[in-house]
Amino acid sequence: MNQPAAKPEMMGVSKNTTAIFYEDVIKGLQSCPKRLNSKYFYDANGDKLFQELMNCPEYYPTKCELEIFSNKTGALAQSIIADGDGFDLIELGAGDAMKSSYLLKYLLEQQADFRYLPIDISSNVVNYLTVKLPLTLPGLQITGLNGEYFEMLTKAASLSNRRKVVLFLGSNIGNMPVKEATEFCKGLREHLNPGDMVLIGFDLKKSPKTILAAYNDKGGITKRFNLNLLERINRELNADFDLTQFDHYAMYDPESGACKSYLISLKDQVVNIGGKENVRFIKDEYIYMEISQKFTIMQTDQMAANTDFHPVDRFFDNKKWFVDVIWMAG
Ligand code: AVI
Repeated sequence: MNQPAAKPEMMGVSKNTTAIFYEDVIKGLQSCPKRLNSKYFYDANGDKLFQELMNCPEYYPTKCELEIFSNKTGALAQSIIADGDGFDLIELGAGDAMKSSYLLKYLLEQQADFRYLPIDISSNVVNYLTVKLPLTLPGLQITGLNGEYFEMLTKAASLSNRRKVVLFLGSNIGNMPVKEATEFCKGLREHLNPGDMVLIGFDLKKSPKTILAAYNDKGGITKRFNLNLLERINRELNADFDLTQFDHYAMYDPESGACKSYLISLKDQVVNIGGKENVRFIKDEYIYMEISQKFTIMQTDQMAANTDFHPVDRFFDNKKWFVDVIWMAG
């Protein structure tokens, strides 16, 4: 992605990120079992690898949600336009906004009264969107918000008192265990007013083989995606992980719907981080890297009920592998 130099309307700053990254990594690798937070996958190289992953044949979630946004744009838009009053369309973790662009284009054609507020932890992403989208979508009103989701939702509330519609796409909610995802939705609800809406993408339970293949692709992109975090730790925190001495292992449990990724140490080894901490691995010890939770429709309804939202609508792809739900804050 070409990153523009200009910084138009963009708010929020993330401070001291390296120190927080260091603390999280040390805490994770000193815990038992060892773990790393998958939110750190996304440095510039991680972004590229994720783009590759989304295009690889086995990784279906992006394709399914893209199908929903491109084929059912009108119905999605009608559902969020609701009574037609003006609204702020906020996107959490907007990325390249490829899916939401279908919706934005349609809303502009309908002359809907809305402003788009992409929120992303990456200032590069926010810069890019605030410059690029108005070029491809003339007339789009956009305010980029750079920072943590909930802080930026508070910021968005302070900017206008219009109705809010929050997009949380891509099955990002699946990167939290169910309990944490429920807490996240509660947090979301606390930042909204009755009548506000959320549109959330959930990856659904399906053939375990299909799911496992998506997280264990033949081309080894998921493996590189996971190993990239070790490389990032080497580069940014001055560590000495030997990437050839860790292998990727993915598993899917059809009962719980949890798909988990691990890196397995191929030998007894010691890794130094930042010249200070030594982390010991025994052969076959794992680092828990990521959860990609899969849901049933009943679970999504239950989550809405538990977090003071009412299901309003749901949109499936043709295979019914993925769902975008629209909930209204109670
Ligand atoms: C971003 N997130 C929803 C992806 C997923 O499916 O859990 C990240 C990913 N990890 C491995 N492949 C894709």
